[in-house]
Amino acid sequence: MIHQQAPLNFDYQATTPCDPEVLEAMAPYWKDFWGNASSRQNTAGLYASAALSVTREKLASILKVKPERLIFTSGATEANNLALLGHARAKAIEFGKPGHLITVSTEHNSVLDPLRQLTREGFSLTELQPDSEGILSAEKLIQSFQNDTFLVSIMMANNEIGVLQPLAELSSLCRQKGVIFHTDAAQAFGQIDFDIDEIGIDLLTLSGHKIYGPKGIGALIIRENIPIHPLQWGGGQEQCLRPGTVPIPLAIGMGKAAELALETLNTRQKYLSSLRNKLWTDLKSEIPDLILNGSMEYRLPNNLNFTVPGVRGSQLQHSLRSNLICSSASACSNGAPSHVLRGIGRTLKESEASLRLSLGKETTISQVKSAINIIVKVVKDLKKDRLSL
Ligand SMILES: Cc1ncc(COP(=O)(O)O)c(C=O)c1O
Repeated sequence: MIHQQAPLNFDYQATTPCDPEVLEAMAPYWKDFWGNASSRQNTAGLYASAALSVTREKLASILKVKPERLIFTSGATEANNLALLGHARAKAIEFGKPGHLITVSTEHNSVLDPLRQLTREGFSLTELQPDSEGILSAEKLIQSFQNDTFLVSIMMANNEIGVLQPLAELSSLCRQKGVIFHTDAAQAFGQIDFDIDEIGIDLLTLSGHKIYGPKGIGALIIRENIPIHPLQWGGGQEQCLRPGTVPIPLAIGMGKAAELALETLNTRQKYLSSLRNKLWTDLKSEIPDLILNGSMEYRLPNNLNFTVPGVRGSQLQHSLRSNLICSSASACSNGAPSHVLRGIGRTLKESEASLRLSLGKETTISQVKSAINIIVKVVKDLKKDRLSL
């Protein structure tokens, strides 16, 4: 018998609630210290500017980069757009013509869509297929370089199937060719440990709300001397790359969230991967025909994604809805079938009958056990109904 008051949240990759310590760090900057960081001729502005510098330095030191390399944006979507459109347009002016770009078909839409926009501006684009586990091989990348390739964008961790790409290997190929390497780390930051310079990342995208920070803030980290054209023009903030008044409370919140995420990363990684492994092992033993989506070895600790063969996706979602919050694709896909699952070879039906379960720091073993019971019951009932038709 399933007794559930509120549905269980297994959708922490879509977003996370603000950590109470993040709310506390942000609080004074809404009302008491509300100055504009660009108005340095008054005390309130000076205070805001100092607070912004402190949070920028904090984030930069967590990422082991110089503070000047960090540009605050409204989130990962804007950071991806700024990196890709901004660098491509700058290079087209430098070369006198557009060139060739490479990405992977399983990227987030905020990477795919700006790159596809660039094809309408004369650039050419190769969208590589990963293997059936979601991983892009170095060989595939090598084969896709052209004489005029200047930018490659490959995400660190996939938002749907949690797969981690072999970034150091891929970026070193780019470095050898003199090609700029961008990665969207919106899902990886705070979940896995990485060093931007050791991996060889030229442009890196971050988001605040995936790490218990506020929504509406993110950042782009830019290696020195990489030309980027702004997407908008105005007051010259953020080195003229992101003009507009910087939302100080959100930037402070993102800095605090990053600090908390990194402090607890190792213990959280172990905790979440053990819960995730239990989720998968128990579900698979109860429903043996489940198909795992994405590599289990190279995967975020908080992600599980599987296909339930023999059931209709819409019925599966509908039957789970009142007890379990989870996702069948990314939060930004507007309900369209997952291009990520299609990209690793699932059929349309299989993609629709797939679930992404993502865990957060609040997830408990008893919630995991309840989620297993809920899913097993729903899947068994749906399969029974189909047999009796
Ligand atoms: C991999 C990835 N990139 C980009 C985004 C967009 O992030 P934001 O909501 O900060 O714009 C998301 C959010 O779902 C994501 O998972």
